[in-house]
Amino acid sequence: MTEAPNGPRDVTVIQHPLVQHKLTLMRQKATSTGEFRRLAREISLLMAYELTRDLPLEMTGIETPLEPMQAPILSGKKLCIVSILRAGDGLMEGMLDLVPSARVGHIGLYRDPETLVPVEYYLKLPDDVSERLVIVVDPMLATGHSAAAALARLKQAGAEQLRFACLLAAPQGVDVVTGAHPDVPVFTCSIDRELDEHAYIRPGLGDAGDRLYGTK
Ligand code: URA
Repeated sequence: MTEAPNGPRDVTVIQHPLVQHKLTLMRQKATSTGEFRRLAREISLLMAYELTRDLPLEMTGIETPLEPMQAPILSGKKLCIVSILRAGDGLMEGMLDLVPSARVGHIGLYRDPETLVPVEYYLKLPDDVSERLVIVVDPMLATGHSAAAALARLKQAGAEQLRFACLLAAPQGVDVVTGAHPDVPVFTCSIDRELDEHAYIRPGLGDAGDRLYGTK
């Protein structure tokens, strides 16, 4: 937890050396599309490790080849990963490598060019989203408006326990999301210096969707 002017915020900057190293490679403009995608998969697996660090365990009886024992297994809520289209998909694969049984949801939002308000164009969630720990993924937390709108929509759909994961955040984005959703822990690999006038994170890594899919 960090203390902010508007109260305590649950924001974790993942400092693991492998995460920081891979993020540096992703930031470099010379990194190819294929390499960027592979790094996104690897870093998201490591992020999932942090995001799930406090999942509750319960004891169960098992038999090893030598004797019976009580051993820990995951208890309680199962996971749902929700990708904010389209770049969120690039942060999901590694998480699914680590938690293959997780359910997957998608939400698509675009910004109305006149009102600048996020408008939903796609939503598909598992029926039992209210019973799951929901990890919402989007590589770039820039203005924070799409993330805040996505979290509000997921709460409206019944999600009760949510976490938000991104590669990079701008300070404003963190303020917007934690201000609108103080109950949602935010996980990021870096809080960068600022947003520029085009709402790009600086120094950043460019357009995450274009870099993932080679569309520019
Ligand atoms: N989305 C991106 O892909 N990059 C940014 O820097 C900000 C938003």
